[in-house]
Amino acid sequence: MNSTPLYCAESARRDRADELASRFALPRVNTRPTQGYWLELGPQRLELLTDGKHGAVYAEFVEGAARHRREQGGGRGQPVAKAVGIKGAILPVIVDATAGLGGDSFVLASLGCQVTMIERSPVAAALLADALERAERDPDTRDIAARMQLVHANAIDWLQARALDDAATRPDVVFVDPMFPDTDKKSAAAKKGMQAFQHVIGDDMDSAALLAAAIEAATGRVVVKRPQRGVAIAGVKPSVVLDGKSTRFDLYVIKALRPQQA
Ligand SMILES: C[S@@+](CC[C@H](N)C(=O)[O-])C[C@H]1O[C@@H](n2cnc3c(N)ncnc32)[C@H](O)[C@@H]1O
Repeated sequence: MNSTPLYCAESARRDRADELASRFALPRVNTRPTQGYWLELGPQRLELLTDGKHGAVYAEFVEGAARHRREQGGGRGQPVAKAVGIKGAILPVIVDATAGLGGDSFVLASLGCQVTMIERSPVAAALLADALERAERDPDTRDIAARMQLVHANAIDWLQARALDDAATRPDVVFVDPMFPDTDKKSAAAKKGMQAFQHVIGDDMDSAALLAAAIEAATGRVVVKRPQRGVAIAGVKPSVVLDGKSTRFDLYVIKALRPQQA
């Protein structure tokens, strides 16, 4: 999955392209590929492109759906806010273990939470880094972007290391939204023109190990986002299920999972 090349036709942006290629170990090419998938840094943003079958895929925190959700999104009334436990003065510190294109992270940071985004795919991580940089430059999103931190790593390893830390430095909430090999997710992704992203990233076959690591690292709860009728992650059973119209949140409440020692 690490062979997606990065191309840049803009002479003014070649240093930035080199920086992204080196940070995410992406092969740099000097000729625009004509087949397969490639990342292209244009004058505005970094995009995942392919030879005509699908539209460009990019992460976006400033314009479009992100702007609409920021301005009209329902704030703390959104189901995701309830799922992570935002209430009164409580703003949990969150690790988004499956950051993807950062949609959920951005909503949570917009609500005031500090969010560490973990992403293992170099392609998704590069798209995220580019969107974050644009959000840092825009006065409307600068403050939100300042609450978001990107880590390019496998969240299973990263969370296992956090589990050894002092409770004070561990996250309150670990948020998990894996790419499941089930039909609900595939059709939802297809509708959004996300086939290219899904093809490059692939399904996440190790969600059970990720859930186990998340439960060890979180001090408050683990929140798993699933399609309404999607199967739960194998292993531990959720303590609470919050049903929504198209999305469901499976909650693994740590206090319920780890009874207090007498
Ligand atoms: C369905 S997408 C997440 C979408 C995201 N919630 C959003 O709003 O854009 C799943 C992402 O999690 C990443 N992922 C899955 N397992 C991971 C792991 N163990 N460590 C880091 N990233 C992981 C995949 O590479 C993929 O980009």
